[in-house]
Amino acid sequence: MRTYYCGQLNSNNIEETVNLCGWVDRRRDHGGVIFLDLRDRTGIVQIVSDPERTPDSYQIAGDIRNEYVVQITGRVSRRPEESLNPKLPTGEIEIYADDIQLLNSLGKQLPFQVSTAETESVREELRLKYRYLDLRRERMTKNLQLRHEVIKAIRRFLEDEQNFIEVETPILTRSTPEGARDYLVPSRVHAGEWFALPQSPQLFKQMLMVSGFDRYYQIARCFRDEDLRADRQPEFTQLDMEMSFMSQEEIIQLNEKLVGYIFEKVKGVDLPLPFPRLTYAEAMDRYGSDKPDIRFGLELVNVSDLVKDSGFKVFSGAVAAGGIVKVLPIPGGNDAISNVRIKPGGDLFKEASEAGAKGLAYIRVKEGGKIDTIGAIKDNLTDEQKQELLRRTDAKPGHLLLFGAGDVNTVNKTLDRLRLVVGEELGLIDRNKISLLWVTDFPMFEWNEDEKRLEALHHPFTAPHPDDINDLKTARAQAYDLVFNGYEIGGGSLRIYQRDVQEKVFEAIGLSEEEADNKFGFLLEAFEYGTPPHGGIAYGLDRLVMLLAGEESIRDVIAFPKTQQAKCLLTNAPSEVDKKQLKELHVSSISKPKS
Ligand code: AMO
Repeated sequence: MRTYYCGQLNSNNIEETVNLCGWVDRRRDHGGVIFLDLRDRTGIVQIVSDPERTPDSYQIAGDIRNEYVVQITGRVSRRPEESLNPKLPTGEIEIYADDIQLLNSLGKQLPFQVSTAETESVREELRLKYRYLDLRRERMTKNLQLRHEVIKAIRRFLEDEQNFIEVETPILTRSTPEGARDYLVPSRVHAGEWFALPQSPQLFKQMLMVSGFDRYYQIARCFRDEDLRADRQPEFTQLDMEMSFMSQEEIIQLNEKLVGYIFEKVKGVDLPLPFPRLTYAEAMDRYGSDKPDIRFGLELVNVSDLVKDSGFKVFSGAVAAGGIVKVLPIPGGNDAISNVRIKPGGDLFKEASEAGAKGLAYIRVKEGGKIDTIGAIKDNLTDEQKQELLRRTDAKPGHLLLFGAGDVNTVNKTLDRLRLVVGEELGLIDRNKISLLWVTDFPMFEWNEDEKRLEALHHPFTAPHPDDINDLKTARAQAYDLVFNGYEIGGGSLRIYQRDVQEKVFEAIGLSEEEADNKFGFLLEAFEYGTPPHGGIAYGLDRLVMLLAGEESIRDVIAFPKTQQAKCLLTNAPSEVDKKQLKELHVSSISKPKS
């Protein structure tokens, strides 16, 4: 039926007779000559029909409307000089249509214009409801093509160059503790019992190491019932990897090569290796974030020691309570950021308070090094303290210094947020820059205030740093994250492979021996049958593709995503089911029926 895709044709095909199939992107009637833009997933080509040269197709060309499905037979010609279109890859040629077959027309009016020439922005709900039409549009076709190229590059590198094999792991499984809520599936056969959909293939990939598969990967679907954001979906895809007999250093190097390979294949970019690294402690200290965007400076400065004895109670009190005082120094901030924005009611104040800050103290540096600040700082910091502050923050005339004071997490969260907003606003982020960064040496645990217990920061199978083994509670983990322009695109660790260490970690997170045995008995047992040292990583594939595509939401690189409310607008899932089905599953609903 078809001899070429539309986007493949160029001046080399001139004089050839070709058969094309696709959708009519646009029809233009130029007083006697009809032009059709024919589209398929590779691009667009111009079709011409006129009563003299192509009388057989002229009548039907006149009846055709946008998005009709057609098959066209015609001869490729060079376009006349005045209608060459250098913007279009097929812009040197056009096809005189000897024959047009109408394969299908439209039964309804389009909910929105699909044409590549249309620039109207369509509401996302409408796009998701008619996703099949949305996916015809050039932007989405390109994104899905890119996603495919990324996965192809991953497979080529891991399989052909590094000897990995892909193994599928179950979707109906037991809950794994990645920290989110599970999606559950009731068992019909075992009344009252439930499967969980995997939050990741973590334990299965570890089992594969016990089995000796040595180098595993999988393009793996994961499910997490958590609050959704632009970079989070309830159902998402990981590139999941696990390796035996490799050090953290070797795993990191292999992954740098992988990422370098992907960039080269899909973007033609030669990434400089190795990627920079920061320890978690450094990242938090300098940027207030474990996934800092290091494409720009605006680094934070800790001044706790300097102000701990000052008369300004907000500062000294914060330090006395075990907290910190940090500064975000903003060159040129004096002119760019007015007091109204920093004071209650202002947008920057709002950012700070949403991050938990109670106030936003500031200093403005004027010509000659004079300072303008809030009364409490003016009156309660000595001249030496003020001068030392300026020295430490390298503040020059024109600088605005914003302060965070309080508990460590709140201060970091506040200044991280302000840093990103200000960096964006002042145009400090170079959009052409690609920054990949490893963050290493995460702490093993963090305190969960709600549950009053330690919680694994990565997951409880992560190996502690060998130097910290005697004090697990404050130990560093052998864990690493990969950060791309301020997004966490991957995370992994070396794993525990000895039963006693794993038991100690379960104990540290408050899991009783009985619970540990009930949930992870198979893992503990496997450790006694010859488990090799192993480690791995998983990438958020959707996030990686989103960044490579220059999109701002992973919904734009997933064929059929869920909305922010975790619904599929195309199929209207989730939906109610028959009472009979529920009964078979031994489930009864406590929610009231909708209608
Ligand atoms: P982690 O939980 O860090 O690690 O997940 C790995 C990567 O998956 C991406 N990601 C998501 N992407 C879209 N939507 C979500 N809801 C979502 N949640 C996570 C992130 C993240 O870096 N088993 C471990 C990996 C390992 O230790 O090997 C794990 O799943 O980009």
